[in-house]
Amino acid sequence: MLNVALPKGRLGEKAYSIMAQAGYECPSLLEPNRKLTFENPETGVRYFWAKPSDVPIYVERGVADVGIAGKDILLEYEPEVYELLDLNIGKCRMCVAGPADFRDDQSRTLRVATKFPHIAKTYYSARGRDISIIKLNGSIEIAPILGLSDVIVDIVETGSTLLENDLAPLQEIFPISARFIANTVSYKFQYQEIRTMAEKLAALV
Ligand code: PRP
Repeated sequence: MLNVALPKGRLGEKAYSIMAQAGYECPSLLEPNRKLTFENPETGVRYFWAKPSDVPIYVERGVADVGIAGKDILLEYEPEVYELLDLNIGKCRMCVAGPADFRDDQSRTLRVATKFPHIAKTYYSARGRDISIIKLNGSIEIAPILGLSDVIVDIVETGSTLLENDLAPLQEIFPISARFIANTVSYKFQYQEIRTMAEKLAALV
């Protein structure tokens, strides 16, 4: 039996759907209830729903053998897991965004609001730009609107949240997609099961 951590939220449905197409169905998972774990002994998988940013923690600690996580989460937390496959789903971009007419005044410290402080620090330190980070947990777009920050570093998918709040992408930092990841010990001891799963997924990508 392989334990699989799936990200709940907007990537969740796509993540389960690609697993099901690869032959790892678990129909009880789609029932409308608050249950968080589901298993199908016939396909040999036990799924559980986790907060997207927690998926790599479960996989790193080995309570999940494999999981599906966004590249954004992997770059922010740098967990010790194997990244086996780019699933080509959940595609979006990590961007600097702000008012469309924003001009960076280099004589001042730039105030950056973000859920991704490590990514933001790495990006600006590579450019030698002094910043102060304002760590938020959601609705990042309101920070520059209310004057809490000059810019944000955040995920842009359709761009509609920015557009509807009179903001614009200013720089793209990197493209994002979902990755199939594995625990390093599980990969050794359940090598065959994990490789088979990775290959079935790869055939769909
Ligand atoms: C994410 C992200 C943006 C939005 C971008 O937020 O932080 O706010 O989606 O998507 P769009 O380009 O398609 O508009 P999420 O919905 O995950 O909620 P959050 O505000 O709680 O972070």
